[in-house]
Amino acid sequence: MPQKILAVFGTRPDAIKMAPVVLELLKRKGQFDLRVVVTGQHREMLDQVLSVFGIVPDYDLNIMQPGQTLAEITTRALSGLDPIFAEEKPAAVLAQGDTTTTFVAALAAFYHKAAFGHVEAGLRTGNRFDPFPEETNRLLTTRLAALHFAPTKESADNLLREGVDPKSVFLTGNTVIDALLTTASSEFSIDDPAVVKALALPGQVVLVTAHRRENWGAPLNRICCAVRQLVTQLPEINVVFPMHKNPIVRQTVVEVLGGLDRVFLIEPPDYAPFVKLEQKSALILTDSGGVQEEAPSLGKPVLVLRETTERPEGVAAGTAKLVGTDQALIFDEAFRLLTDPAEYDKMAHAASPYGDGSASKRIADALADYLSL
Ligand code: UD1
Ligand code: UDP
Repeated sequence: MPQKILAVFGTRPDAIKMAPVVLELLKRKGQFDLRVVVTGQHREMLDQVLSVFGIVPDYDLNIMQPGQTLAEITTRALSGLDPIFAEEKPAAVLAQGDTTTTFVAALAAFYHKAAFGHVEAGLRTGNRFDPFPEETNRLLTTRLAALHFAPTKESADNLLREGVDPKSVFLTGNTVIDALLTTASSEFSIDDPAVVKALALPGQVVLVTAHRRENWGAPLNRICCAVRQLVTQLPEINVVFPMHKNPIVRQTVVEVLGGLDRVFLIEPPDYAPFVKLEQKSALILTDSGGVQEEAPSLGKPVLVLRETTERPEGVAAGTAKLVGTDQALIFDEAFRLLTDPAEYDKMAHAASPYGDGSASKRIADALADYLSL
């Protein structure tokens, strides 16, 4: 008898990282009876991913509001999930990472005494306010989870250090690499004119993304000023900046970089074209977790625009550097990489510290064992 599983997600990165798990569980119909529940914490950015992976949710809470607060996401998601869990009575609930949707899914699972499986478990910065609220979402989710799918040895060790039962920790790799490898090798047509234009740009392309709450305001302003300084001093480069939908982020980005020559501020591309942009770029500047994980596999140097990272593996592999949000430091590091081939070559090698593309299979196997299927 297949066991009822709920996969819960709500934001763009949740969806990208849960998609391979959803597709794997759907293949194993004899073992799992899967329902896909989306909170809709994101709207357009979530729908983009659903359509790329061909996933149709069974439930969509559609909670997103412009300028939503953390408390609003938490309460709306929790009161939306509660009756679904009551109706479906899942044996297990899966969610990934550190978003508020994920923490709330774990809490709702606890209230309904369903086993919670945490995909991408054990990442830590050690500072509960950085990233905010993600580090604390992770800590709370760990306390609520029955199964911990750690992407790397470092993340598994973090969990063991916190006293998590070793029998409940599984080293799986990160499902983002499953998504990346299938997407990077697939053929598809790109119809977004801004992306077509960006992919045809001559010279070195610098890809930039930024959205983190702790970077809103002055830090994001400094990041954008560093980018402006870079295009001003390097007449050969082009900057492509897919802007997060959050108006708070857009306001700063447009204020500093709007209308500048060789700076392309574009709508966030779908996942598959975004991966093509990553492949095309010479250098990536980002505060994104997922982009930090993808860049090493693609052999792209990445400067991490944050003070801390819960993903030290890319730094250890030599393809990522933590540069924070100091304008001079970002500019200096980017300038050096773009003008000194020896420095560039040191960072531009493919490394895969985050997985081998089989994480979702390992997660499905561990879940089947746990449920004694
Ligand atoms: C959320 C996650 C963060 C993750 C990020 C990925 C939390 C607390 N934060 O942050 O961990 O790194 O997603 O992108 O879970 N918006 C739209 N359309 C969309 C998406 C967002 O208009 O498709 C706008 C809305 O005004 C929304 C705002 O962006 O209120 C912020 O979205 P929210 O999910 O609260 O925060 P993010 O910064 O996206
Ligand atoms: N991404 C995308 N389109 C974009 C920017 C990012 O598809 O315009 C993908 C990217 O490849 C990665 C994920 O979104 O897999 C990262 O999401 P985001 O940066 O929003 O969140 P984070 O990973 O920081 O939580």
